[in-house]
Amino acid sequence: MGINSREEAVQFLKEKRDSDQVEDVEPEKRGLISGLLNTLASDITGLTGSVASAVDPKNYRPEPGYTFQAPGPNDSRGPCPGLNLLANYGYLPRNGYVNYGQVLDATARGFNMGADLATVLAVFTILADGDIATESWYLGAGPGNVGGLNRHDTAECDISPNREDYYLACGDNHHLSSRLFQQNVQAAAANPTKQFDLVTMGTQYASNAAFSLKNNPYLYYFPFPSIVSLGAFAFYPQFFSNGTYGAGGVANYESISSIIGAKFNKTSGQFSFVPEKWPSQGWYRRATPYGAVQALIDGFTIIYPRYPVPMAVPQLANPANLNVNTILCDIYDGINSITPLALGGTEQEVATAVSWALSKLEGVGISPSVLGCSIGNISPNFYPNMTQAGGPMNLPPAQQANTGNNVYNKTYFCNAPTTPQCSHTC
Ligand code: HEM
Repeated sequence: MGINSREEAVQFLKEKRDSDQVEDVEPEKRGLISGLLNTLASDITGLTGSVASAVDPKNYRPEPGYTFQAPGPNDSRGPCPGLNLLANYGYLPRNGYVNYGQVLDATARGFNMGADLATVLAVFTILADGDIATESWYLGAGPGNVGGLNRHDTAECDISPNREDYYLACGDNHHLSSRLFQQNVQAAAANPTKQFDLVTMGTQYASNAAFSLKNNPYLYYFPFPSIVSLGAFAFYPQFFSNGTYGAGGVANYESISSIIGAKFNKTSGQFSFVPEKWPSQGWYRRATPYGAVQALIDGFTIIYPRYPVPMAVPQLANPANLNVNTILCDIYDGINSITPLALGGTEQEVATAVSWALSKLEGVGISPSVLGCSIGNISPNFYPNMTQAGGPMNLPPAQQANTGNNVYNKTYFCNAPTTPQCSHTC
């Protein structure tokens, strides 16, 4: 696209923002949504059958002994549909308090996530949102709403596939947003494949990025959280497809809506957020692992270019540097900048945490020698300006009541929050 510098990227974005119209789906358009769902549904019927006959039965999920059970009021659930679902079946502790080993095992078993990808996600999450001594964290809010995956600007961040931005949602960055999923369904229906594939999810990303840039004055878009978020757009087809995406698997409405807990209400035309579940019609996990390298390729070369949001890290702001090697090296180097978020402790505590994290990453092949990183030349800080307004140490204004664990069987955000929307149910 010919963007060679951060300045050009900013200029491009300004022009695009001014010319972009982000469509908000109004309740009166519910007839349209129903029609789109019917279109998708008619495609689904044939697609599901063809997958079921082409897959290896050993990839059928859930396996015997793992049964769905909706989370209770004291179980912790948050912004990650993959982990929420695994806890709903007992692949992870049902109370939502999980540790590194359990997550590595469960994400591989349930979805065939590669160990390197799960490690990168888990290590940063433990450093920023969890507890190093026990290698654990909460899937939603931590005790007293401190820590946990709901913590904003650490692993969770703005411009998510189907969650609203922290500031505009008045602290609710973790419930499925009805209007965003309506928009996602529209993008799938407009795509000739009728699927939630990388093209559809790129469209969803572009709409959400334009919306956030236009309306969210506290947008804080920095490397690590953006990796999680960009990856998450690709996770829709890569992990939630019935069968292996790219090898006959289908990212159809039936699979996606069930796994992310979006239940269509014909009367209101909106989506309620219900506990995440594998589709009852039958579902097969991908047959091959999907790891860190592929996730970064999908996130940074397919999703991100659809609407590049400049990152305030000079090295990554230059699209020429947006390659997997640079980003993996940045992940490695970024450990040094993330630890103070969690610890704010003594030098010795920080040093212990850094060496713990580095040894975990090295264990899955992410090390400077393997990657050929030129240490010292790479971005000095993964969370620059942490204390700026909107940064992780100085969060945007929000209501505490909106920051707790997921509450299911309600509908959230029927309309786009162009200004902070503190009453989030509708
Ligand atoms: C290995 C440990 C994992 C951690 C620490 C983790 C963490 C997170 C976090 C913090 C978010 C919020 C990102 C944002 O604000 O945009 C998120 C979102 C997401 N995660 Fe995970 N995740 C993990 C594993 C998985 C797995 C195994 C899957 C799929 C099977 C998955 C699928 C997703 C998706 C699709 C979203 C986006 C949700 C949406 O906004 O629609 N994650 N995850």
